[in-house]
Amino acid sequence: MAGALTRRGLIAAGLSTAAGACHAQTYPGLGELARRRGVIFGAAIEPATVDKDYDFAALLRRECTGLTPENHMKWNVLRPAPRRFDFGGADRVVAIARSQNAAVHGHALIWHEANPDWLARELTPRTAVEILEEHIGGVVGRYAGKVRSWDVVNEPVERNDRRPDGLRQSLWLNALGPDYIPLAFETAHRADPSARLVLSDYGLEYDDESWMREKRGTMLELLAGLKRQGAPIHALGLQGHLLGDRPAAFGAGLRGFLRDVARIGLEIYVTELDVNDQKTPGTLRQRDEAVARIYRAFLDTVLGEPAVKMVTTWGLSDRYTSKIDMFPRPDGQAVRPLPFDEAFTRKPAWFAIADAFTGAR
Ligand code: XIL
Repeated sequence: MAGALTRRGLIAAGLSTAAGACHAQTYPGLGELARRRGVIFGAAIEPATVDKDYDFAALLRRECTGLTPENHMKWNVLRPAPRRFDFGGADRVVAIARSQNAAVHGHALIWHEANPDWLARELTPRTAVEILEEHIGGVVGRYAGKVRSWDVVNEPVERNDRRPDGLRQSLWLNALGPDYIPLAFETAHRADPSARLVLSDYGLEYDDESWMREKRGTMLELLAGLKRQGAPIHALGLQGHLLGDRPAAFGAGLRGFLRDVARIGLEIYVTELDVNDQKTPGTLRQRDEAVARIYRAFLDTVLGEPAVKMVTTWGLSDRYTSKIDMFPRPDGQAVRPLPFDEAFTRKPAWFAIADAFTGAR
């Protein structure tokens, strides 16, 4: 197997086809390759996209053993009004996952973004516990046994908010203080004792960024504190939004951080992996190769830690990436952050991820 999935392997396959070989080379899906080393490979999806694009649905079926709703389990979608839940899109994601036997990673029960306007108005120290328990109990309870894991608290650390504990000044922190975090985990655990509960954040990936090195320290303290007080937390979520125009500084610092997280007794999930090539120079091919190298360098380090049990990319194909609108390139071309291009052809990034899973050189 080693080497069979490399770029050279693809080129060789292409050449052999050109020379008249009568069978096209087939590849296992990334999900299958990940499974062989005990890891789930997933992607974030919008249910409407899957329902309108049959080829994309087939691609997800072939590649993914996990799925995450990119937006449909956020408060602004689930909770249009204080007394109303709208589960339509979330149910659809769960049904799609079930139809292809993929594990659902729920995202996100508590976040400072994507909240309906009414939440800030209604949330006070007096009402907050009830609102939190109603939401988490209702959502996690509905999907008990169907959602394997949850981002329970998303992005709770922000050093610029200048608190000694490093916590973000969010509407939940303002209403309940730091206890909102263990409370969210306990509530989720009561609603589905079998669900794996995750605390996720960004800005933990790069060794050459001092604020990220500092954030790792803050995160370790937060996680260790939660474990010490007996909170039902099972994993750290490393978002993994990487940049295509900077060195792949994923070395001893990241490795040591992941080891420290594992020592606390937590698993590690990569929850939102992509490589933003908004500022990556070069031809399409050069950009794709640069993006692939970053995927590979990151995953080689991350997969070296046995506590890593899931890798989820934030989308699967460049045809459907929310980054296209959010990160316009100066040359007017679209960003290409994902393993498949807009025509669902495997990119160098796909081969980089495949080779990272198989350990091929
Ligand atoms: C993003 C989605 O990809 C967009 O479609 C949406 O408009 C905004 O949110 N960190 C997170 C994700 O935890 O939920 C965010 O997703 C990207 C950053």
